[in-house]
Amino acid sequence: MNINVVKHPLIAHKLTIMRQEQTVPKDFRQLLKEISLLMAYEVTRDLPVESIEIETPICKTTGIKLSGRSIGVVPILRAGLGMVDGVLELVPQAKVGHIGCYRDPDTHQPVEYYCKLPVDAPERTIIVVDPMLATGGSANMAIDFIKQRGVKDIKFMCLVAAPEGVKAVNEAHPDVPIYTAALDDYLNEHCYIVPGLGDAGDRLFGTK
Ligand code: PRP
Ligand code: URA
Repeated sequence: MNINVVKHPLIAHKLTIMRQEQTVPKDFRQLLKEISLLMAYEVTRDLPVESIEIETPICKTTGIKLSGRSIGVVPILRAGLGMVDGVLELVPQAKVGHIGCYRDPDTHQPVEYYCKLPVDAPERTIIVVDPMLATGGSANMAIDFIKQRGVKDIKFMCLVAAPEGVKAVNEAHPDVPIYTAALDDYLNEHCYIVPGLGDAGDRLFGTK
């Protein structure tokens, strides 16, 4: 299994609060945003840089600037929306696309209903965000769409992943690195992640 589990005491602490049933949507949203910011730090760790000559008020020196591709963030609706602001706080110049997709409650298969990407998406590194990687169907569908539009450089960032979903994405898209805050145990008979945190979209928006 090819996966980057981002280990940090702050992430582990915040995720534990998110998992708890009594955590209300207001706190769930805030914590998801905070964890997304912390994870974006790790996801962007290998961005290419170049040296530039600058002048401080004291003297000339050599600094560093980002080079290469700009970034795009693409949340999978709905729950992915909760991760966008955290990433944008760290990478404010990123453009944002959207992919609408929900799991059919009976078949657990993803159903796509919306896709709008920045026109220059193929020139960007695209970070696809969705808190839950369960069967991997939604992530694979989103990554398929993005590749069909010419994007070559894609990363997937989630909060909680199931081994089944990691395997599915690794097999379908071996070129796409996955970052998660936690790798959980398995999927239950309803394809929910165990121990997981329940339905991320409902908990984020208070729809249940
Ligand atoms: C959830 C979650 C993922 C998907 C993961 O979305 O946010 O998109 O399920 O499951 P999978 O890996 O088995 O595809 P959901 O379908 O509940 O839609 P919502 O965000 O609109 O609630
Ligand atoms: N979608 C969720 O929101 N939670 C899960 O555990 C699985 C899919």
